[in-house]
Amino acid sequence: MDIKKVVVCGGGVLGAQIALQAQYSGFDTTIWLRSEGSVERAKPRLEKFTEQRLNDLELMKEEQTKFNFAGGLVDSYDDFDYEATVEKVKKAHEELTLETDMEKAFDDCDLIIEAMTENLDQKKEFYESIQEYLPEKTIICTNSSSLLPSEFMEATGRPEKFLALHFANGIHKMNVVEVMRTSETEDEYVEIVTQFAKDIRMQPLVLKKEKAGYLLNSLLIPFLTSGLDLYATGVADIEDIDNAWKIGTGAPMGPFDIYDIVGLKTPYSINEDLAKNPKENFVYDFDKMQAVLKEKIDDEKIGVETGEGFYKYDEDGNKID
Ligand SMILES: NC(=O)c1ccc[n+]([C@@H]2O[C@H](COP(=O)([O-])OP(=O)(O)OC[C@H]3O[C@@H](n4cnc5c(N)ncnc54)[C@H](O)[C@@H]3O)[C@@H](O)[C@H]2O)c1
Repeated sequence: MDIKKVVVCGGGVLGAQIALQAQYSGFDTTIWLRSEGSVERAKPRLEKFTEQRLNDLELMKEEQTKFNFAGGLVDSYDDFDYEATVEKVKKAHEELTLETDMEKAFDDCDLIIEAMTENLDQKKEFYESIQEYLPEKTIICTNSSSLLPSEFMEATGRPEKFLALHFANGIHKMNVVEVMRTSETEDEYVEIVTQFAKDIRMQPLVLKKEKAGYLLNSLLIPFLTSGLDLYATGVADIEDIDNAWKIGTGAPMGPFDIYDIVGLKTPYSINEDLAKNPKENFVYDFDKMQAVLKEKIDDEKIGVETGEGFYKYDEDGNKID
């Protein structure tokens, strides 16, 4: 199945960016919004995100650093045609369709990406309300960050064609996307959505099953939590904790660098949840984890030292692709 028409539902922070990205990559893209008021609120947002892309392209022209590279827009600095890319970004903005009429929006639509406010009941109600307008072929993806797709898959009326496609804020630069199926999603649709992610210049990260927090937040939240715990309980100062990580592993940022980028309000509310459900949130399956390590150790795959661990290495210790 070829994806041609894409409808993004919701024109907020993420919806606006996803729609610009899909249109930029050549898909016929519509943003469905629930009212004329939402349309008027979405317009300046689309302008702002377009302006941001143009500013980043200008920065890339002037200065080439790993921090200003917009992989969602171009392949590399070397084959980057500034004038042509600027035109393409502007054209994507001009060609986007904004629509409040469901019948028109969903007509002949191949893929829906739902990027509405994080509210389970409202999302369910929305999925139920669109069923009568959707062609049989339409695949539905949710961009939800904290809800599991299985929580509302029945409301879509097509759980086999429903999965999560989770973008990161700033998608033209942070161009990864997490593809997460439910137990009901059919393989075929996971493959189509993964290909679509590549076609809109994202790097797809495919989860084999549902996991709250997907990949990135499942890694990041324990990391940030441990950093804050070390500081809050008086073990060390902020700079030393960051340096332990940065100098000790060669990573560019420590936990407190990341806190400042994310903004402190989100971790605060995540911690409120974690404090209420500590067991559920920080329990690891040590039996399965040890079995993974033991099998490697038994096979002499201990790491760089033996030429193979989780990855393979040449004699000089360089990773082999
Ligand atoms: N903001 C982020 O950094 C981020 C990152 C990844 C995923 N997400 C997810 O993306 C989704 C949207 O987040 P956002 O930050 O863009 O939110 P936002 O508040 O900026 O935008 C929400 C949009 O949904 C629309 N909306 C709200 N209720 C609606 C309803 N009942 N019917 C139709 N439209 C409705 C609003 O008009 C608005 O256009 C959420 O599920 C969120 O978890 C957000």
